[in-house]
Amino acid sequence: MITKETAEKLEGQATPYYYYDLEMLNETLSVASGEAADRGFQVHYAVKANFNPVIMKIIAGYGLGADCVSGNEVEHAIACGFQAHETVFAGVGKSDREIEKALGLDIKCFNVESAAELEVIDSIAGRMGKKASVALRINPNVEAHTIRHITTGTDENKFGIRIVELDRVTEQMKELRNIHYSGIHFHIGSQITDLRVYRNLCSRINELWQWLTGRGLEPEDINVGGGLGVNYDDPDRFPPFAEYFDTFKNHLDGRIRSTISFELGRSLTANCGSLISRVLYVKPGAAETFVILDAGMTELMRPALYHAYHRIDNLTADGQEKRYTVVGPVCETTDTFGKLIALPETRRGDLIAIRSAGAYGEVMASRYNMRSLPPSVFSDGI
Ligand code: LLP
Repeated sequence: MITKETAEKLEGQATPYYYYDLEMLNETLSVASGEAADRGFQVHYAVKANFNPVIMKIIAGYGLGADCVSGNEVEHAIACGFQAHETVFAGVGKSDREIEKALGLDIKCFNVESAAELEVIDSIAGRMGKKASVALRINPNVEAHTIRHITTGTDENKFGIRIVELDRVTEQMKELRNIHYSGIHFHIGSQITDLRVYRNLCSRINELWQWLTGRGLEPEDINVGGGLGVNYDDPDRFPPFAEYFDTFKNHLDGRIRSTISFELGRSLTANCGSLISRVLYVKPGAAETFVILDAGMTELMRPALYHAYHRIDNLTADGQEKRYTVVGPVCETTDTFGKLIALPETRRGDLIAIRSAGAYGEVMASRYNMRSLPPSVFSDGI
């Protein structure tokens, strides 16, 4: 939560920067991990959402596992306090070097996305005298009903092994001597707010569980992925963790004895972060008035990349509301945070918070236009 008092403290910092409310982060983690534990579920943190070491160390402190998508993420997660034996490595394009690194660190498992990858992992593990634990990432062909660009679990996506290939891949896997089959993995997309989508995922998991078990491949672990959405209109509201976990509790087949794990990213970190920026200029245009910030798509790329919405608060003005188009300084027309949005009358020097930016914000920053990467400021340090 950004109170008036917080805003006064933020005034003293040079902009732009990411501000993280650690109380909010801790509360979110405590609710999420508590609700999961109540239902016997395990939670991994999807490191890609935010790999800031301060945030990572706090999350590791709650005993979560780590879901990584590069060798660097695997190494970083372990350095930040995540247990190697609770770290999983997913991704369609793991390089040989990354596979070697992860095997050397004795991670929990690889989420394997193709038949070819299975063979490569087997051969590298053989060379290293190791046995690689693998979970098959299955593309369940379930529509996630979210932003098209962040859907991952339908047939046209590059992710996972398609169901029609499963027969051949499982037969192939039985021949590989350096592979230990540990289970199955799914991830259908991100920013999912319609929980009925997860019921469809459960039905697909139930069918696959039955099919695999019938072939002597009962999974030890079923990793159902992440994707739980947040409310971008109301950054102070917790994501519906209890309802989310209940959907799986109520819709997965009661005969399943596998451990059930989740990979949450956005729902754990989005709300605690804001991009704080200062108004450089208020500039009249032909049809709209532009508020030009000292932060742009280089600091927060989501609006430019996906037309994603983030709430924008003016922390230092409280006059009559007017409509503004809020833009950054970068040489691109898509460098726009909000079009014709209502803000109290805004002036040069006002402090602006772009909310719910704790996930896929700082980590996606770029140096385009030779801009500096944004620093981070934490609530316990202001
Ligand atoms: N597991 C896997 C295999 C994933 O690919 C992802 C996200 C997650 C878990 C975590 O999903 P979450 O709980 O955070 O929804 N940059 C985009 C989001 C891309 C998500 C990629 N995969 C955005 O800014 O919206």
